[in-house]
Amino acid sequence: MSTKSFFCKVLLIFSSLVALIYLDGCGYALDAIHPTTLSNDGGSSSQSSTVPANQIDYAVIRTEIFAPHCYECHSLAGGNAGGINLETYLNIKSNLSDIQIDMADDSMPKDRPPLSSAEKNLLALWISQGAPEFVIP
Ligand code: HEC
Repeated sequence: MSTKSFFCKVLLIFSSLVALIYLDGCGYALDAIHPTTLSNDGGSSSQSSTVPANQIDYAVIRTEIFAPHCYECHSLAGGNAGGINLETYLNIKSNLSDIQIDMADDSMPKDRPPLSSAEKNLLALWISQGAPEFVIP
């Protein structure tokens, strides 16, 4: 085997490993989120949450709620609609009561489909825990 093809094989194995670890991490994050949201979705109440509630932090909420549903308008790139930017933890914290009102009456996201009940529950759970920026697993 030439040095070059050996090097290529090592590189290939290494990058596959990195990809596997990365994908595994993603799967874990999704598994961790959905049991909680489903068990709070008015469905079967016997279904117990497999994730400690204290795993829901700002990073989860940003990824699941604010980035996909709000950044289109409430970001620097989106023009900070209504003078509101929701790209930082502090900005979200200081608009939290308005955000709760707008979620409850579906007035936000404006002119877009409302959040699903699972998404609303996830947000409500986070807020009920004091809307933490970080959590200690
Ligand atoms: C398509 C654009 C758009 C999207 C998406 C959007 N907003 Fe807005 N938002 C606006 C505009 C425009 C205003 C200014 C007031 C108005 O026109 O109703 C506003 C105002 C607000 C306000 C302050 C005024 C109020 O009504 O309380 C809050 C809080 C808010 N949005 C939260 C959110 C949240 C949270 C999301 C995501 C779940 C979101 N918005 C998604 C366009 C949008």
